[in-house]
Amino acid sequence: MVSKKLLLLPGDGIGPEAMAEVRKIIAYMNAELESGFELDEGLVGGSAYDAHGLAISEADMAKALASDAVLFGAVGGPKWDSVPYDLRPEAGLLRLRKDMELFANLRPAICYPALADSSSLKKEIVEGLDILIVRELTGGVYFGEPKEIRDLGNGQKRGIDTQVYDTYEIERISGVAFELARTRGNKVTSMEKRNVMKSGVLWNEVVTATHKAKYADVTLEHMLADAGGMQLVRWPKQFDVIVTDNLFGDMLSDIAAMLTGSLGMLPSASLGAPDARTGSRKALYEPVHGSAPDIAGTGAANPIAMIASFAMCLRYSFNMVVEADRLEAAIAGVLDDGIRTADIMSEGKTRVGTTEMGDAILAKFKALAA
Ligand code: IPM
Ligand code: MG
Repeated sequence: MVSKKLLLLPGDGIGPEAMAEVRKIIAYMNAELESGFELDEGLVGGSAYDAHGLAISEADMAKALASDAVLFGAVGGPKWDSVPYDLRPEAGLLRLRKDMELFANLRPAICYPALADSSSLKKEIVEGLDILIVRELTGGVYFGEPKEIRDLGNGQKRGIDTQVYDTYEIERISGVAFELARTRGNKVTSMEKRNVMKSGVLWNEVVTATHKAKYADVTLEHMLADAGGMQLVRWPKQFDVIVTDNLFGDMLSDIAAMLTGSLGMLPSASLGAPDARTGSRKALYEPVHGSAPDIAGTGAANPIAMIASFAMCLRYSFNMVVEADRLEAAIAGVLDDGIRTADIMSEGKTRVGTTEMGDAILAKFKALAA
């Protein structure tokens, strides 16, 4: 029996509301499909700070490290704006990524046919879009040292962040991108800023060498990251897999999200290296959207990104490909039926809240299993 220990970290804002819809799906899968998920729960972000004075407690960190997969909601909100920097809600997420060594962040941007009209871009530009951003997640300027505000003693201060990448970090993230490209459109676009950054020069060299050594069957192209942002809104369908560093990946994936109609649609998977003995990877799944404090508690949040993140969990952590396909088909089916949360609402469609959207997806998921 494969163990299926899931740790739920709903977090703040709309995180718990979105997570509640995933819980319903898991309850159904355990009861009717004998999926055997063992659930545990913890606190992260502002809710952890309120309870323990930390963005994540040591006990919850230990649970995360012992789980087969973590499902993460969202963190942050104005309530914690004046919390000390090291204890801010986002620190909980960054610690999970770093301590679980989740270096590969997969952010698929798929435009469901039913939503081609919801994007701020023209329909023909986004219709049928299916790209994957592979973002490096444990290095770069997010974690590089020194990282500080230095007092220069002359009335001036200096803010310092350090962009740093080692060969092995670029090799392993580009390896993930090439492997995934082989299962899709067989093309990788690497994005950096080699025209101004030494880390970009190295990034470009190492991606090129990795390609030559092991993945010459995959088409590789290089693009400066600013041009890449422009091309993403000009003609996004030219891309298949984009591989890029932590900070560029953060920005480019928000752009990609809007191509799909709403930030509320985009799931993500953050994966570690496969264990040498068991082959299993540490993993955390989270929607790309944030905690959306402005709509938290109103029942209006879109749970699709959270549910689609659980579908990625089924696929990547448990190899439950049939169920993952079915859950993704259930989401597409509900959208085809014209059911919409406020963020993706358009004329003539049926507007629903978070729980109705979750119920509709679960009903479709059940019907597809029958
Ligand atoms: C993301 C978020 C995070 C990031 C924040 C919440 C720290 O924007 O996952 O894209 O910057 O990585
Ligand atoms: Mg972001």
